[in-house]
Amino acid sequence: MAIAHETEQAGEPIAGQAKCSKAGDSCSKMAGWDLRIRCPRCKASLQALECPFCGLVMRTGRGIVYALPPDRAMYFAKFIRDYERIRAAEGRGSDSDEFYLNLPFKDISGANREHWKIRARTFAHLMSNVLVDGRSGGRILDLGAGNGWLSYRLLLAGYRPVAVDLLTNANDGLGAAEHFEKQVPGLFPRFQAELGCLPFQEDQFDAAIFNASFHYSEDYQRSLGEALRCVKPGGLVVIADSPWYSRDECGQAMLAERREVFLNKYGTASDSIRCLEYLTNHRLRTLSEQFSIEWQILYPHYGWGWALRPGIAKLRGRREPSRFRIYLAKKR
Ligand SMILES: C[S@@+](CC[C@H](N)C(=O)[O-])C[C@H]1O[C@@H](n2cnc3c(N)ncnc32)[C@H](O)[C@@H]1O
Repeated sequence: MAIAHETEQAGEPIAGQAKCSKAGDSCSKMAGWDLRIRCPRCKASLQALECPFCGLVMRTGRGIVYALPPDRAMYFAKFIRDYERIRAAEGRGSDSDEFYLNLPFKDISGANREHWKIRARTFAHLMSNVLVDGRSGGRILDLGAGNGWLSYRLLLAGYRPVAVDLLTNANDGLGAAEHFEKQVPGLFPRFQAELGCLPFQEDQFDAAIFNASFHYSEDYQRSLGEALRCVKPGGLVVIADSPWYSRDECGQAMLAERREVFLNKYGTASDSIRCLEYLTNHRLRTLSEQFSIEWQILYPHYGWGWALRPGIAKLRGRREPSRFRIYLAKKR
């Protein structure tokens, strides 16, 4: 399967590139991406990063467009603080370019090897079964992009990625993408924005990928709705590396366990916002009804150890472990 790639949409002419109203560094970095920007506060279509209707100015710096309105930045401040603290304690990120350039195939820091093994298999599955058409230069939204490794890989494969995340720090957030810059000068556009309110006009991306990020959403309908709004008709939304449980009770039990671990280890439950944290068939069915979409489910092989986990857990009378699948939905 290849992602749909249409040359240009009909209707309103494309606004070239987003014109910056402030510091010009992000403008040059967005050249060639032909992004059509939408005000994340009043939803007006914009020609620049300053909204003439509500007055919101999207500041730019270090190649990142800051597209969280001040009230939303305040809303997410504690989540970002807790999350950054936990991720730093988990040993995420590195000072060396090599670490980032090897992702997702090798974690040379050694701190999160198992985690990166899963990411690598999901990515390989996506590249050989879904994103097979890089030469088309299709535009892809990398939603919850973290350090931007997926955008980097997509760029190398011939796509035009746009990375979106709440985090902008230089280890684990959008700032870390600078480690890719020697390999891909100019990088890719990066936006600090929330999954539930994307600063882009509709129907302009060939695909939107939530890689290990959809389950952070507080409102699946809103986040999926935003991704579907931004992709072109025929474009794809991909949800990968979000935990799935066969029963809601198992997801709830996982949350209770994790809450306790976080409190003991980090002194915070990291629950200042109510992320939904997992998928179930019921949740997926609800979304498919809400948007009249059909989910196609892919089952990457994560190794026998991983495949046997549910059976072993059952034999030992333990809670069902999470499983990872790839969910694809095509916009009509
Ligand atoms: C587990 S990380 C995955 C990062 C990357 N996609 C990867 O595969 O390594 C989840 C990411 O989602 C981001 N995130 C969580 N909630 C978000 C939200 N509401 N809006 C935008 N990004 C969010 C986090 O900041 C984090 O970088």
